[in-house]
Amino acid sequence: MKPYIFITRKLPDEAVEPLKNKYEVTMWDKEDVAVPRSVLLEEAKKADALLTMLSDKIDEEIFSVGENLKVVANLAVGYDNIDIQKASEHGVAVCNTPDVLADTTADLTFALLMATARRIVEAAEFVKEGKWKSWAPLLLAGHDIHHKTIGIVGMGSIGSTVAKRAKGFDMNILYHNRSRKMDVEAELGAIYCSFDELVESADFIVCLTPLTAETKDLFTKDVFKKMKKTAIFINASRGPVVNEEDLYQALEASDIAAAGLDVFEQEPIDPAHPLLKLPNVVALPHIGSASIETRMDMMNMCVENIDLVLSGQESKTRVNK
Ligand code: DGY
Repeated sequence: MKPYIFITRKLPDEAVEPLKNKYEVTMWDKEDVAVPRSVLLEEAKKADALLTMLSDKIDEEIFSVGENLKVVANLAVGYDNIDIQKASEHGVAVCNTPDVLADTTADLTFALLMATARRIVEAAEFVKEGKWKSWAPLLLAGHDIHHKTIGIVGMGSIGSTVAKRAKGFDMNILYHNRSRKMDVEAELGAIYCSFDELVESADFIVCLTPLTAETKDLFTKDVFKKMKKTAIFINASRGPVVNEEDLYQALEASDIAAAGLDVFEQEPIDPAHPLLKLPNVVALPHIGSASIETRMDMMNMCVENIDLVLSGQESKTRVNK
């Protein structure tokens, strides 16, 4: 009997073709609706491999029913949706998709920073809604980006790729990370500083840290209070790193100037969420790595990792022991 693979979202046929030739493959048939938990549990019972999305919760319940499970390949660099410790206890390899998405996610992060600083979304709506009556000296005036200070929280491969873009804009680069990155310091002149120093002195605070027990609720009321009144906060990592109620209060009270958010505590965010009512919030639907080229590369990486593990080899990007 061929090993069985379950893919939790509809992916393009060409991406899954290499698996179909060798294995029995079932794919959830919807692209924009997550697989129901009950279906995922039934499929996990039979599966040798799962190709999962960041919206799937892969926890002890899945691992304990998945007696044949050998590998979970997650279509994301972040893997906070997976209980890594439980995966290791059950001997399941967990793989992610690092590096292939660094440039694309850095592009989106910088685009979000620029859109927020220069009020691009507001301005585009202003024109479409017929509100443009005349050129005016301070019409939709935003904040400069060039020569300002960017503070990057989380200097992994996406962080350092954002720093390269910042360097091209003549920005001063501060960063905070678990460890110092001497290569980024040497190449881009980035300056390591404490978290407090960074939030107090940066004009743009850009959050790119993975979601872990230490980074959950990292950005709270007290942190926003320490920022400059003109600071712009950008989050392209994971929603729960930020206390959204505190962010809302900080924006309402003009403790900071604006926020650009690609990620939220609850995804999709409720359209009635108060944050979405603020004109100085640019909100995107978690599209950091969403270019066609990069999403195809990510799918190919998942497919390759599954094939390697099911052929008895080590995957290329295993994140657990
Ligand atoms: C990831 O890969 O973790 C990103 O958030 C996807 O856009």
